Amino acid sequence: MSALRTLDDLLAEGVSGRRVLVRADLNVPLDKQTGAITDDGRIRAVLPTLGALVEAGAKVVVCSHLGRPKGAPDPQFSLGPVAGRLGELLGAPVHFATDTVGDSARSTVAGLADGQVALLENLRFNAGETSKDEAERGAFADQLAAFGDAYVDDAFGAVHRKHASVFDVPARLPHVAGRLVLREVEVLSKLTADPERPYVVVLGGSKVSDKLAVIEALLPTVDRLLIGGGMCFTFLKAQGLEVGTSLLEKDMVETCRNLLERSGGKIMLPVDVVVADAFAPDAAHDTVRVDGIPSHRLGLDVGPETVAGFSAALSQAKTIFWNGPMGVFEMPAFAAGTRGIAEAITKADAFSVVGGGDSAAAVRALRLDETDFNHISTGGGASLEYLEGKTLPGIAALEN
Ligand code: 3PG
Ligand code: MG
Repeated sequence: MSALRTLDDLLAEGVSGRRVLVRADLNVPLDKQTGAITDDGRIRAVLPTLGALVEAGAKVVVCSHLGRPKGAPDPQFSLGPVAGRLGELLGAPVHFATDTVGDSARSTVAGLADGQVALLENLRFNAGETSKDEAERGAFADQLAAFGDAYVDDAFGAVHRKHASVFDVPARLPHVAGRLVLREVEVLSKLTADPERPYVVVLGGSKVSDKLAVIEALLPTVDRLLIGGGMCFTFLKAQGLEVGTSLLEKDMVETCRNLLERSGGKIMLPVDVVVADAFAPDAAHDTVRVDGIPSHRLGLDVGPETVAGFSAALSQAKTIFWNGPMGVFEMPAFAAGTRGIAEAITKADAFSVVGGGDSAAAVRALRLDETDFNHISTGGGASLEYLEGKTLPGIAALEN
C-alpha cells in the first residue's frame, strides 16, 4: 500500500490546465420503472477527489460503468442521469459526452476549461472495456488514455475487475489513487492486518456461492461469523432442517455442512425466521423457529430472537465487518432483521465497517445515520475480494 502514489502527490505537482482522467464507480441503483437514481452514495463518495481537482484547476474527465450492458450502447444504462446528479452535487454543470471515446467525447474533452468537469458515456458500451483479449482491451485503453495527462483511480467498487479503464489505462498514464480508493484500502487493510478482538463478521445476502471464498478466508481470522439473509437457508438445510420454499442452493449443502464442522463453533445461524406465503410486500407472514418452517412457505427475514442473539455477539465486538442484508429489507414487512443488526452494529463500541452495495444501500434506505459507522465501503465484490486476500487488478496497476 505504501507504494501507492496518491491524489495529494499529483496535486503537489500541479494540475492546473492539465487533463486528469478519473475512473469513478458511478454504478448507482436505478428505479426500474422511472430510471431515477435510488441511492446516490457512490456519486457522493467521489466528490472529495473531484472537488480537489476542480479546485486545483484541472480539466477533469470522469469515466465509469453503469450496470452490465453488453459492449454496445443501451439507453437504459446511460450515464446521462448521473451527469445531472453529479452536477447538482458539485454545484457546477457536468459536460456529458454521449459516447465514450467517439466524436462527442473528443469535442467535450477538447472544450473543457480549467476547473470544468466532463463525464463520458458508459465505458461498457464498448466491448474493449471488459474484453478478455489484451489487445482489444489495450486498443480501448489507448483511446481513453488520450483524454488524460494523468489518471486517478477512485473507482474502489471496480478495482477487482481486470478492465481497460481499471487495469490498462494506468499502464499508459502517470497514475495515482484517489481519496476514496486510499481510504477504502486503509480501512480494509486494518481488518486484515491486526483487527482488535473480538472480531465479528456478519454476512447476509442471497447466495452462499458468492460468499464461499470470503467465508473460507475469514474463518481462521474471525472470532464469530454471523450468517443471515437468503444464504442462511442452505446452512440450515446442512444442519438437517427443512426450509420450505426458501432460497436454497442444493449443490452447496455439502459445502455448508463441511464449513459448519470446521468452524469450531464460530458460525452462528438464525434460531427464528420470518416466513411468508410468497415473495411479495403484502404476503401473509409469521415468525417461526428454524425447526418449524412450513413446507409451503419461504423465509424472507431473520426473526427477533436471532436479532437479539446476533446483537449480543456484536455488543462484545471490538471490530465488526458487515456485508449483505439479513432479509428482504426493501419490503417493510421483512426489514426488521436488517435494521436490528445495523442498529446493534452502531451501538457496539467497535470499529465498524459496512461492505458493499446492498448493505450500504440498506443503511441509507432504512434512514440510519451513516456517521454511526466508521466506514461504509462503496465496493461489494471489491471489499470481499480484498478480505479474501486476492490481488486486485486495479490496485496492482496503481502500485506499478
Ligand atoms: C458493483 O456494483 O459491484 C461494481 O460497480 C462493479 O460492478 P460489476 O460487478 O458489474 O463489475
Ligand atoms: Mg457487483
